Amino acid sequence: MVYCNCDDPTVSNFFKYFSFNFEKLGLKRLIATCYKNTNAGLFSRHDEERGLYLEYTGDKNGNRIPDPEEIAEMRLKGDGDFRSEECVALLKQADIVVTNPPFSLFREYVAQLVEHDKKFLVIGNLNAIINKRIFPLIKDNRLWLGNKPTGTDMLFDVPKAFADQLLASKKLGSGYKIINNVVKGRSQVVWFTNLKHEKRNEEIPLYKRYTTKEYPKYDNYDAIEVGKVDNIPMDYAGVMGVPITFLGKYNPGQFEILGCTQRGCHDEVVDTRKYDGYWEVRQDGTKTGSSGGKTNENANLLGNDGRKNYFTNGERVVQSQYGRIFIRNKNPQVRK
Ligand SMILES: C[S@@+](CC[C@H](N)C(=O)[O-])C[C@H]1O[C@@H](n2cnc3c(N)ncnc32)[C@H](O)[C@@H]1O
Repeated sequence: MVYCNCDDPTVSNFFKYFSFNFEKLGLKRLIATCYKNTNAGLFSRHDEERGLYLEYTGDKNGNRIPDPEEIAEMRLKGDGDFRSEECVALLKQADIVVTNPPFSLFREYVAQLVEHDKKFLVIGNLNAIINKRIFPLIKDNRLWLGNKPTGTDMLFDVPKAFADQLLASKKLGSGYKIINNVVKGRSQVVWFTNLKHEKRNEEIPLYKRYTTKEYPKYDNYDAIEVGKVDNIPMDYAGVMGVPITFLGKYNPGQFEILGCTQRGCHDEVVDTRKYDGYWEVRQDGTKTGSSGGKTNENANLLGNDGRKNYFTNGERVVQSQYGRIFIRNKNPQVRK
């Protein structure tokens, strides 16, 4: 039984996909609830008090198509919030939850799935990876990324009004793309899941050897900086800081995850220096007004690359890297 609990039922490709592939996937029941909307043919504008409930239990007339009369459509008693009593009651009956939940409630959304011990496949922002409530699940191998490579686009069909908004306010390429004259919303999102998939068993091919020059140690962690996942050295036994896109290729048999640079998420890799007495400086030499405390617990490298803002106390100069995940090679030959 599949449940799409943050859905816009008949305009959503989730409901469409599962209902059209119902028999092929061997489903028993497909249900979807829609938040603050009772018109299944419209994207929710959250301007209604009540939500909608849709249920499909398979083809009845032999045409292998989910006809409208085969889809039961009912109003919910409440607004269809995924946390509401009636939606939680439906969640309890579900085997797998697949949906594209509101990103603003992502942590709470995932926590509910985990609490109810559900299998799930949901879309979320790439940056949710280093969120304080999401990351521990990733570290404990209770949540991982889906099959889509982190570097590829996920494009969305969007309602006309939203497409106009994108055209007016976003950049072509980053905010939207135009494919065959149709505006597609673009966002840096990935699948989050606890369903097993093959890619998780594939090893990242490692070909580089560790050198102190190419892999400097952080100023505040006993770990080396690896700026690109493909450059992870094959022979380094200690802790390495890698970009969050590492998770798109992570094989728990090859590496262990020890933490990340988010506050409260690196108990096993403690930071060894604070920067409260430092201040932030732009490349033109002017101060931003921010204290160095801002870069505490980031992965900081000594020196100035001539591009980014830096932090100094008048003697030392450091620069922070983007969010990093701390990993270690599991291979006993490397670790010995
Ligand atoms: C990112 S959109 C995805 C839309 C939909 N899954 C689709 O593919 O068409 C998030 C969806 O979550 C719904 N939503 C927002 N807040 C919600 C809540 N508290 N409970 C349930 N659904 C919610 C929105 O109405 C919207 O349909």
